[in-house]
Amino acid sequence: MNVKLSNQSLHLIDADLTLEFITAKELEIHPLNSLLTQAGFKAETEQLCTLHEQRLIVCGIAEEASDEIYRSSMANAIKIVMNYAYGSLKLAQYTPQHFGSLIEGIILGSYRFEQYKSETKPSLLTQIIFSHENRDRTTNDIDELTTTLSQTLIISKATNFVRNLVNQTPYDMTPQAMAVTADTLASTNNLECTILDVNGLEDEKMNAMLAVGRASSNPPRLIHLAYKPANPKKVITLVGKGLTYDSGGLSLKAAASMVTMKMDKAGACAVMGIIKAVSELKLDIEIHAFVGAVENMIGGNAYKPDDVLRAKNGKSIEVRNTDAEGRLVLADVLGYAQANVNADYIFDYATLTGACMVALGPYTTGVMGHNSTLKESFISAADQAGEYCGILPFNRHLKKLIKSDLADVCNVSSKPYGGAITAALFLDNFIDENMKDKWVHFDIAGSAYTESAWDVHTYGGTGAGVRMTLKWLMENCK
Ligand code: BES
Ligand code: ZN
Ligand code: ZN
Repeated sequence: MNVKLSNQSLHLIDADLTLEFITAKELEIHPLNSLLTQAGFKAETEQLCTLHEQRLIVCGIAEEASDEIYRSSMANAIKIVMNYAYGSLKLAQYTPQHFGSLIEGIILGSYRFEQYKSETKPSLLTQIIFSHENRDRTTNDIDELTTTLSQTLIISKATNFVRNLVNQTPYDMTPQAMAVTADTLASTNNLECTILDVNGLEDEKMNAMLAVGRASSNPPRLIHLAYKPANPKKVITLVGKGLTYDSGGLSLKAAASMVTMKMDKAGACAVMGIIKAVSELKLDIEIHAFVGAVENMIGGNAYKPDDVLRAKNGKSIEVRNTDAEGRLVLADVLGYAQANVNADYIFDYATLTGACMVALGPYTTGVMGHNSTLKESFISAADQAGEYCGILPFNRHLKKLIKSDLADVCNVSSKPYGGAITAALFLDNFIDENMKDKWVHFDIAGSAYTESAWDVHTYGGTGAGVRMTLKWLMENCK
C-alpha cells in the first residue's frame, strides 16, 4: 500500500473514492444527508456506509474521538475498501494529532497473511492519498506531517514484519530459520549479528536453554543483533523468548492447548521488529536484541521433570514441569545478555504464561518488575501507541512459592494462582543485582496472537510489544 501526503485540498486530489469521517452533528448538515439516512447511516462510532455512485465511503465518529477509535475505524474502512475494485482512496488528515493513528490503521488494517493459500485475490487498492487539509479545512505544517508519515510507516511495517514471522509454521520457522532471518535483517539494516549454535551454547554454559532444546531435531540457536549508532544516548538490551514450537515437552500439552504454540516465538519476533524499526528510524539509541530460539519437543533424550539444571549464572533449577520451558531459556539468555552488554535498561518479551491471560484477559500485556516508575512509563507509552498493558505486582510472599527443597529455585510455583507473577519472580533470579531496577518483563501470552479479529488485528500474530516499546524509546531516550 502506497500512502502519500499531498499539499492539495481534498477536492483537487484525483482518486477513485473519498473517505469521510462524520460526526452525528455533521451528518445533520451533510449535503448527502437524505441518501445516507436512507441507507441507515447514523454516524455511530465505527459505522460504515458506501455510496458507490457518489464515490464516497463514510465512517461514523464521535466528536472528540480518541486515537484508538480513529485507528480501528480506519482499519475497518480499509478492509472494506480493499474488497471493492477501486485503485485509490483519498481523505483529509482530520486533526494533526490523529494523523499517525490513521496511517497505522491503514498499514495494520490492510495486513493479510496469505503465504499458505494456493489462491489469493490481491486487492486493487494501492494508493492512499492524504490531503494536507483538516476536517475544518485548515492546513498543517507539511514538514511535520511528512515526518509523522515516514516514522509511522516504519513502525507499522515493523509490526507487520513481526506478524509475518509469528505466522510462519513451526516447520518453516525453526531455530535455524530464525537465525537466517536475523542474519538477513542484519545485512539489509546494517546490524551486527552473532549466532551461537549448540557448541557455542555449551561453551557459554547455557545448560538450561540446551536442556529445553535437546529432544528436538531442530537444534537451538542464540541470536544477538546489535544496532550501534555513533553517539548513543542510551544502551538498551532486549531479550525475546523464541520457542519456535512449544509441545510442552514430557509434561506434554493437551491436544487443544498445543494448537497455536507456533506463536511461542512472538517475543523473539518482537525484539527483531523493534531493532529493525530503531535502525530505520535512525534513533540515537544502541540496541542489543537477544533471542533464545529453541523447540520444546519430546524424545528419548528429552529433559525431564526431576532434572536439575545449572544455568549460565551458576544457579541450579529444579525442573518440575517441562512446559514451563520459556523461563529456562530466558534464564540463560538474560544471563548471556548481561554478561555481554552493560545496558541502561533490560526488557524481556515472552509468551510466558497462560496465567497472564487469566489475570488480564486476551488483549493485555502483563508488565512486571521492581521499578514502579519504569513500569508506569510503559503503561503510558502503550496507551499512546495503541497497545494494552497492565501491571501485575510482585510481593515477598509470592517469591516463596518457587522455593525448591532440592535446588536453588524451582521452575514452577507450588500454588496454582498468580502464575504470571511467579514466572517473572523466577526470571528475577537471573537478573544481576545492579540491573534489578532497570529490568522490565513483558508477558505477551495473551496479546501476541489472536484467533479472532479485534482492533487493527486479523487472525494471527499481532506484533505485541513493538509499537509500545518504540514509543517508549522515542519518549525516554532523547
Ligand atoms: N508458552 C506457554 C504459555 C502460553 C500459554 C502462551 C497459552 C500462550 C498461550 C508456556 O511455555 C507454558 O506452557 N506455560 C505453562 C506454565 C505452567 C506449566 C507453570 C502454562 O501457562 O500453563
Ligand atoms: Zn510451555
Ligand atoms: Zn512456552
